[in-house]
Amino acid sequence: MSNSFKICVFISGTGSNLDSIIKKQSLYNYEVVLVVSNKADAKGLDYAKKANIPIYTFKWDKKDTDLTLVQHQIKQHQCDLIVLAGFMRILPEGFINAFENKIINIHPSLLPKYKGLHTHQQVIENKDQTHGASVHFVNAELDGGKIISQSVINVENNDTVESLAKRLLFREHSLLPHTIALIGQNRVQWQTNTLYFDHNKLTNPIIIND
Ligand code: GRF
Repeated sequence: MSNSFKICVFISGTGSNLDSIIKKQSLYNYEVVLVVSNKADAKGLDYAKKANIPIYTFKWDKKDTDLTLVQHQIKQHQCDLIVLAGFMRILPEGFINAFENKIINIHPSLLPKYKGLHTHQQVIENKDQTHGASVHFVNAELDGGKIISQSVINVENNDTVESLAKRLLFREHSLLPHTIALIGQNRVQWQTNTLYFDHNKLTNPIIIND
């Protein structure tokens, strides 16, 4: 698999998205070469261990503005893309600048709606009829980088925070691997500061409702 698209996945907790990313490696022809966590006891690290994927854990230190040691690991493993999958920290600007347009994140809302935490709660409080998840490039603004793809679900009258979270997570497990594949296949591509999908300017998110 030496010619495959190499990715590094950052997690902080359960890691169900990491699990789905690992399971779809051969389907989509990418390879998880490194898993990084700011929590040495993150449950999701078990998925990496089971799949024999190298793990790097580090202690979060807000004075470390470049995450130099993390950067070193990523470069050593020659990662083409960094995927934040349930990574619950805001990356420092020095790190983001070192990997410009090479970091993506999955967020449980239809961005630009509901940046930050408690997205399902806000959907219910605002009586929204639809909800969803977004995959976007990471820049210095929280959940503010260019949106690549989204998965959309309907909100039912009897939905709760828990039922929405569960239904959406199921969609995330398809959305994130599929989006990684589109980047790995160069179907989603930056040219200077513009994002293209299949050679057309990406003006609206790609809808992936698998
Ligand atoms: C997901 O809902 C993701 O969108 C959010 O955190 C959750 C992570 O879940 N950023 P898991 O750790 O992948 O199970």
